[in-house]
This record gives sequence, C-alpha cells and structure tokens, in this order.
Amino acid sequence: MELIITKKELKKRLGRAGNIQSIGFVPTMGALHKGHLSLIEQAGKENEIVVVSIFVNPTQFNDKTDLEKYPRTLETDLQKLKGTPCDYVFYPDVDEMYPEPDTRKFDFGQLEKVLDGRYRPGHFNGVAQIVSKFFEIIKPDKAYFGLKDFQQFVIIKALVNQLNLNIEIVPCPIIREADGLAMSSRNTRLSPGQRANAAVIPKTLFEAKNLTSRYNVQQLEEWVIKTINKNPYLNVEYFKIVDDERLQPVNDWAEPVRKVGCIAIHCGGVRLIDNVIFN
Ligand code: PAJ
Repeated sequence: MELIITKKELKKRLGRAGNIQSIGFVPTMGALHKGHLSLIEQAGKENEIVVVSIFVNPTQFNDKTDLEKYPRTLETDLQKLKGTPCDYVFYPDVDEMYPEPDTRKFDFGQLEKVLDGRYRPGHFNGVAQIVSKFFEIIKPDKAYFGLKDFQQFVIIKALVNQLNLNIEIVPCPIIREADGLAMSSRNTRLSPGQRANAAVIPKTLFEAKNLTSRYNVQQLEEWVIKTINKNPYLNVEYFKIVDDERLQPVNDWAEPVRKVGCIAIHCGGVRLIDNVIFN
C-alpha cells in the first residue's frame, strides 16, 4: 500500500499505459471505521487495483464548526488500511484539490431539494465538486458508496449520468454497531450518554418497519418523530418516507415504488443520519 499526496503522482501510477484491468475507487473523509472498510473489501473483490481517498472536503460543509470538529486521524487510518485490499491511499491537501475556487454549480433538480439537500444547502454541490474531481483524476471503473448516505448515492448516480462517465456506482449496505447505530465518523464525537441514547434511532426505525399495517405513511412518519423526540438527547430534524429513485414523498403504502425512510437527528452538537428500507 502506498500513500500518495499529489494528483500528478497518482495519475502516473494509474496511467492506463500499464495493463491495469480495473480500478475500484472508495472516496472517504477518513476517521475510518468498519463501514468504510466494508466498501474497500467489496472493491477488492471486484477490481485489480483499489484506490481509497482520504480528504475532508471543505466545500461540502455548510457548517464551519462541523468542518473544524471533523475527526482527522491519518495514522490510525493507515493502520486500518494495512489489513485491506487498498493499493493506493490518496491524501491530498486542500490546495492540491482546489488550486482555484471551484465555482461549478451542479443541477440535480428535485433530488437536491429534499431531505439533507433541504437542510444542508450547498452540501451536495460540494460533494459533486470533489467526487467529479476524483473521478477525473482516478478514472475508476467502479466507485463504491455506502447506503447510509442514501441521498448521496442517488445524487452520485445522477452525476455520472450528467457527465456521461463510464463508471459503475456500486451501492454497499449500512454497517451498524452492535446496538444498531449506523457506524459514522461523527459517532466519536458523542459523549457516553449521547452514544448510549443514540441507539434509540435504529431501534425506532426497525420498529417502524413492523407498523405499516397499523399506520398510514403520514401517521408512521409522525410516530417515528414523536418516539425519537421523547428521548431528551435526541432532536429529529426530519423523517421522510420517499421512493428510492426520485426521493419524492410517498403518500400511500400501495404506491408501486421501493420506499426508504430517511432521518436526520441532532444529538447535542452532532448531526446523525440513517435510513431504513420499507419493502
Ligand atoms: P464519508 O462520510 O467518510 O463516507 C465515505 C463512504 O463511506 C460513503 O460512501 C459513505 O456512505 C460510506 N459509509 C459511511 N458510513 C457507513 C456505514 N455505516 N455503512 C456503510 N457505508 C458507510 O461520504 C463521504 O465521506 C463524503 O461525502 C465523500 C463521498 C468522501 C465526498 O467527500
């Protein structure tokens, strides 16, 4: 495994002059956990070369404190990567990725107006900026995204379509802690009390899956919000049941679409997201 910090060096290693069969790419912001590692394992099974990027991308943070407090743990990340199929770790600094301000504005239509897009203005534009830059440099055959960030996965698929890129976007299942909490780099910022109470989030989502015959869609959304908000540590920003392609609100269980319940919660100063598939 090799650590690379410049675009030039990475391009040289990946140059198609060699006879690399396929490149799998896993973008991350570091503070790696088993969720990230599962993407890397998957990439290793399906590609000859695996590239993992670690870059805390400033343009996708609409909250300055969140950017400042985002955990940065390169040494332990590299230790963790040693046991994986990762061949190249790309660890650029901000000037390397943004030698000039990126003024590109992407248009994802309705996809970016709902859920996190509504509550984190500019977030997905920043994600699209950095991911499109990585795609341009690395030119992967496949790129791996976790379904924990469901809206991000849908938007990246739209990005690849818009830019006419020949990259397969591979969805990877949510990896959870023993008590059900979705793994996240931000979990390390929870106090022990907050961390213990955050387990109410997945517990409520899983319970909701069993209540679709008792409640209609709106009632179930309200039930989830009320149940989680009863916990003094947790404050729901939104919970919405949407279809899994256009992310539009579902009004009736009978609608012939796959339904995903997406949630964002504030736990003290930490914002957590999760989701659950309903059928
Ligand atoms: P980050 O939050 O570090 O996540 C990197 C990848 O790991 C994303 O595809 C995310 O969905 C996935 N992931 C995180 N937690 C997971 C879990 N518990 N189970 C499965 N997959 C999980 O997402 C980003 O970084 C950034 O927005 C990025 C795409 C790197 C662009 O900056």
